[in-house]
Amino acid sequence: MLHQLQNAVAKRANLLDSETNAVRLLDGNGEGLPGLILETFAGRWLVSTPDNRLDPKIREWLRDQDVSCYWKRLDQHQKESPTHLCGPETKGPFLIQENGIQLEISFQSGYSQGIFLDQRDNRAEVRKLIIPGKRLLNTFAYTGAFSVFAAMAGAETTTLDLSQPYLDWAKRNFSHNGLDPTAHHFCKGDTFHWLKRFAKQGRTFDGIVLDPPTFSRDEKGKVFRVEENFGELAALAADLLTPDGWLLCSTNCRNLPLNDFQRQLRNAIHRPMSARHSDMPADFCGDPYLKSVWLR
Ligand SMILES: C[S@@+](CC[C@H](N)C(=O)[O-])C[C@H]1O[C@@H](n2cnc3c(N)ncnc32)[C@H](O)[C@@H]1O
Repeated sequence: MLHQLQNAVAKRANLLDSETNAVRLLDGNGEGLPGLILETFAGRWLVSTPDNRLDPKIREWLRDQDVSCYWKRLDQHQKESPTHLCGPETKGPFLIQENGIQLEISFQSGYSQGIFLDQRDNRAEVRKLIIPGKRLLNTFAYTGAFSVFAAMAGAETTTLDLSQPYLDWAKRNFSHNGLDPTAHHFCKGDTFHWLKRFAKQGRTFDGIVLDPPTFSRDEKGKVFRVEENFGELAALAADLLTPDGWLLCSTNCRNLPLNDFQRQLRNAIHRPMSARHSDMPADFCGDPYLKSVWLR
């Protein structure tokens, strides 16, 4: 058991360099320790388990590493912050680096720590696609990481989320990278509502990121489910694209096979667009739950 853990951590050494210090160190489902996940955020570790059990041998091994280590129970109902497990405590927010970009993380902010590491390669791809002056719309933006990558490449960005605290966090992420948030747009509210509003205003974008939660409810209680409503969302977004614009449609919904996701998108979008699927980052070697389709 410890052998698998040590091997997995050693294997990730090549992903950690002077530009990136946050990766998944162990993806237990693909590395012989089902359910166990270990991630590093600038040297602070987060171990995740499906329930309230952590094997004593693993607990001891973690203690021996002498790093600040927190424990997250992947219980979707409780949505609790991770708890301190061993090593020095990490109090308050701190910065990680991903491909040279600084992003703020917190182990005290609830169930999510401020970044979804599985989107690392997609963020890098967004940065590559941007030409200075292009307009990017980042919906369901959370802490705005996609926006920061695009803005660092010279895009004028619009960051949209239901939550004001997350939009404030996104603005701090801009500032951490020397970007002036007042030179960009931040919209609070429901994505569907804003997409329709942008269409009425005649606003267009060169790139749009759609990475919604599997289930969401807007301010008026209207329910969104990826399995049923992603097509509708993608169609609204596609109507806002410039002629050679692109759309990133991404979902971590485990109940939606890639073929069904692609079919949903094809059926909903009526303009001709080419589609390409991108894989998960190399440190995610368990189930390929994240489906990312680039439409152009
Ligand atoms: C799955 S995360 C999005 C992850 C993000 N795309 C990223 O890569 O970091 C969920 C985010 O969607 C936001 N959200 C949920 N429902 C929404 C809605 N109807 N309109 C806009 N934002 C919404 C939440 O506030 C949260 O910040």
